[in-house]
Amino acid sequence: MTSYFRIAYDDLPSWRQLSPSDQELVHRAYEIAEKAYAPYSAFKVGAAVKLEDGSIVVGSNQENIAYPSGLCAERVALFYTGANFPHLKVKTVCVVAKGDLLPVEQLLSPCGACRQVMLETEIRQNDMYRVILVSQNERTIVFESAKDLLPFAFGTM
Ligand code: THU
Repeated sequence: MTSYFRIAYDDLPSWRQLSPSDQELVHRAYEIAEKAYAPYSAFKVGAAVKLEDGSIVVGSNQENIAYPSGLCAERVALFYTGANFPHLKVKTVCVVAKGDLLPVEQLLSPCGACRQVMLETEIRQNDMYRVILVSQNERTIVFESAKDLLPFAFGTM
């Protein structure tokens, strides 16, 4: 028997087509990306997390000379959220990036480790949240749930 995963997502040519509140999240993500500590890759990533009370938590990638010691923007923002607002649900996570590491037309997409953490945030709060990925050419992908980014995840099937 062949089975299939079907994942629905919105694919927009630009984040400018998002709702005003989602656009605000994009702005906040770009703002914090400018403060990334990325001397090794020069690839600046920003993540903005909208919580259920309307507040926004932001994070950027933080690199280190011992490469694996650094952390991606998504995990910086989500771990800060988990540490400081453990009882507030995440409603939306937006990720943006700027740098020559990827061609501008290439999709910006979280790494595997971040996907695992993004998924566990949903499991922890027992509720899904939206994920907005903005590539450098403005193409914007919106997922309804972080689990859509990690099919067959450990502990979920
Ligand atoms: N990075 C992120 O912060 N998030 C992603 O989704 C992909 C990659 C960071 C890690 C590293 O600091 C730099 O971007 C280059 O990989």
